[in-house]
Formats: sequence, structure tokens, C-alpha cells
Amino acid sequence: MAATSFFHPQYEALGRSELEALQMERLRETLRQCMNSPFYRKRFEDSRISPQDIRSLDDIVKIPFTTKQDLREHYPFGLCTVPLSEVVRLHSSSGTTGTPTVILHTKRDLEQWADAVARCLYMVGLRPGDVFQNTSGYGMFTGGLGFQYGAERLGLLTVPAAAGNTKRQIKFITDFGTTAIHAIPSYAGRLYEVMEEMGIDPRRDTKLKTLVIGAEPHSEEQRRRIEEMLGVKAYNSFGMSEMCGPGVAFECLEQNGLHIWEDYYIVEIVDPVTLEPVPDGEVGELVLTTINREAMPLLRYRTRDLTRILSGECPCGRHHKRLDRMKGRSDDMMILKGVNIFPIQIETILMQFPELGNEYLITLTNKDANDRMTVEVELREFSDDYPKLQALTKEITRQLKDEILVTPEVRLVPKGSIPTGEGKAVRVKDLRKTLI
Ligand code: COA
Ligand code: AMP
Ligand code: ZN
Repeated sequence: MAATSFFHPQYEALGRSELEALQMERLRETLRQCMNSPFYRKRFEDSRISPQDIRSLDDIVKIPFTTKQDLREHYPFGLCTVPLSEVVRLHSSSGTTGTPTVILHTKRDLEQWADAVARCLYMVGLRPGDVFQNTSGYGMFTGGLGFQYGAERLGLLTVPAAAGNTKRQIKFITDFGTTAIHAIPSYAGRLYEVMEEMGIDPRRDTKLKTLVIGAEPHSEEQRRRIEEMLGVKAYNSFGMSEMCGPGVAFECLEQNGLHIWEDYYIVEIVDPVTLEPVPDGEVGELVLTTINREAMPLLRYRTRDLTRILSGECPCGRHHKRLDRMKGRSDDMMILKGVNIFPIQIETILMQFPELGNEYLITLTNKDANDRMTVEVELREFSDDYPKLQALTKEITRQLKDEILVTPEVRLVPKGSIPTGEGKAVRVKDLRKTLI
């Protein structure tokens, strides 16, 4: 029996006017749905608009933006548009210091999400018979369950290896005949490094052919190196928890930008300062409106990711717009080991220790294939009580790890030794280089 096709020309290959008609129909439905949430009702009242004022896609600019701060302020259920009894899953961001965010899903939302991920994996040539190993963290990380359900939907033999334990990952790859892996680009380097240590040649000793890489920015050169090292094709995968997770935009076999699923999202690119639309092809902040979500639709969500829309048609036959690889962020979020971290989370923990002064410096490096974070923080007063300083370092490290999920190296330094310079203090130095 032929494998189910996850290429849907009736959505993916629509002409622009038909696609826009579909988007408008779904936007109308989404706006109706949003009026069930106290948050959006008030937003619309405050800005004196009603869903009826949105008569065309161009009218979308009348709708105020939604931000991460809105999600935080209405944590946990303030943006919910269905009775909670219809919500079957939530994903939450890490962190307890700044209020975290949650995203809610009905059964239908989860099915739509799985379909989107299946569509992406199908697009890069994966089919039943392929063995797909997922190295994302499971639990709250959406790359875990997101790829799991999508790969199963497509009919792949799916290995929920989860993050960490690289030797075991490699044993799975060889024992199970893994053909495709989802990994963050920096972890692909770690996989290769440990394969070398184990005397495993990925081309000779594995069946690997496809890598799905995402969750952190990476360059074209980094992709090519991953491909050369592991003897695979590597495809860029973009997503974010607010938009479900993976499955938002993905490269096709052409590797010429990421198709963003326009039957799921209305795409805008705006200037992050003026918030006005940028001219076609210019870099700006990606703003997305979900048009097929039930539990928690988001209108004009400011992703804070910087990218641009690529021009021209893709030879693959899909008509959905293509995004350029992400150029960075318009906020101060860092991504380390596939984990999102805001400097304020670190500051909040540090400032709870009376032994510490006000100055600190976060440095990100990657001397080997592992990303590292060092947190230097000044002591309020001089001390040579080394056992006490050691215990303090350990406790700060523990509390930071609880908050940001990765383990930093904490260094206590004498007061005055962190340069403060003029003006706004530099709190983060990202010295990571493309190494692999
Ligand atoms: N994916 C898979 N494995 C990872 C990883 C990642 N993003 N980041 C680190 N690892 C591996 C390390 O290589 C190490 O294994 P090894 O020593 O056998 O090679 C192990 O995880 C522990 O890493 P370490 O850096 O020592 O620990 P940490 O405490 O700083 O980080 C993790 C803890 C790995 C649990 C945390 O970084 C994590 O959960 N990352 C995954 C996030 C994720 O899945 N993001 C995708 C979202 S779509
Ligand atoms: P999360 O909500 O934890 O899934 O993190 C989402 C964020 O990760 C996005 O907003 C981006 O900043 C980043 N991200 C995800 N995929 C990519 C990618 N392919 N390239 C660059 N950044 C990415
Ligand atoms: Zn294409």
C-alpha cells in the first residue's frame, strides 16, 4: 500500500488569491474564537475595534500586537478561548523568577500540530521505513513531543531518545539503523565528536541520511559542515512554543529558505522599533497570527525573531512563503544547548544572595563541541573563607540550574573586578563561534 502523502496541494500549492481567501476565512473564525478569552475581549474593547472591523487581510494591522509579556501577565489561563475541560495539554516555558508562559492545546490543536510536523518531515523525504531519532528534551520542551507525534503521524519508527547521554544516542543510531535525527545544530557537532572517540564512521557504520536542525540560530556554513561531517543532508527547522513548537517553518529539499505554513499562520515582518511593516525582502521582526488554533489563538504575536521573506517561487511546487534563516533576536534572549534563557532570570537569582554585589557578567563560549556559560559575579565583601565560598558557589549554581535548566560555571570575583564601563552595563558576552 502506498504511504499516505503529507503533501497537500489543496493547501500547499494554492494560488495566492485562493490562499488569501482561505486565510481570511480562518482569520474570521479565529477572531470569533478570540472573543471567548477575557484577554482579547478587553484588548479589542480598549482599542475600540471589533472582529467585524477586520474585513480583509490588510485590516490585520488594526489589531494590536500580542507579546510574551501579555502571556506572562495572563499566566496561566487568561488567553484560553475554550472551556478548560477541552484543553488536553499545556507546555510551559522554564523559569520561576519572571513568570513563565503557558501554551494550551485542545485535541484538535494537537492533531493539527502533528500534521504540520508530519508535513515538514515528508517534505524532506522521510517516509515509513525511516527510523527517526529525536534528541530534544521531552517534557516541557516542545521539540520532544512535537516531533514525536509528527513523526508517528507520518509513520516513522520514532526513537524518543531525548537529550543527553551521547554514547547511548550513538548506540541507538547504530543498533536501530537510525536514518534521521532531530538535533540542535551545536549538538550535531557533539554527536560527531563522540562518534570519533568511539571509532564510529557515520558514513560507514550508520544509515544516517537526514538531519533536522533547529531551535537555535546557525549559519549556512555550519549546516554544510554538519552535512560533511555526518554524510547527511541537514534541513533547517524553525518553530517556537507559542506557535505550538516545531512545524512552523521548514526547509524543503531545495534548502533555499524555510516554507512557512500559511494555512496555519498569517505572516508579517515589521520594524522592531517602529512596528511598521518593512518593505518586501527586508529584515525585520517576524509577527505571526495563528489561524487554525482552538485553545489559545494568538493575534499578531511578536516572535522577536529577525528574518526576511525570500522572493521568487520555489521549484518544489509549494507556494507558501519562504523565510530566510533567522538573523538573531530583537530582545536579549539567549539560546544555550537549545534552552531559552533571559539574563533577568540569572540576575534575579543572583540578587537574592546577600553575599553578592550588583555586578555580574555572563559569558557564553564553545571551546569544544559543548556550549558553556560562565557567570562571574562580584562578592559584596572580601572573604578568604574558602569552604564558605565553595558552598556559596555550589548553592548559586544549583539555584541557577533550577531556574535556567543548564548548568553554568559560577565564579565569585572580588568587588570592583567586573568592568562596568560607561552607560548601560554589558551583562552578556557571547563568544561562541561556529567551530564544528
Ligand atoms: N540536545 C541533546 N543533548 C544535549 C543538548 C541538546 N540540546 N545539550 C546538551 N546535551 C547533552 C550533552 O552533550 C551531555 O551529554 P554527553 O556528556 O553524554 O555528551 C548532556 O546532554 C548533559 O549536558 P551538559 O551540558 O553537561 O548539562 P547541562 O546541565 O548544562 O544541560 C540539558 C542539561 C542537556 C538537560 C539541557 O541543556 C537540555 O535539556 N537541553 C535540551 C533542550 C532542548 O531539547 N531544546 C530543543 C527544544 S525544541
Ligand atoms: P522554544 O519556544 O523553546 O521552542 O524556542 C523558540 C525560539 O528558538 C525561536 O523564537 C527562535 O528564537 C529559536 N529558534 C527556533 N528554531 C530556530 C531556527 N531554526 N533557527 C534559529 N532560531 C531558532
Ligand atoms: Zn520548496
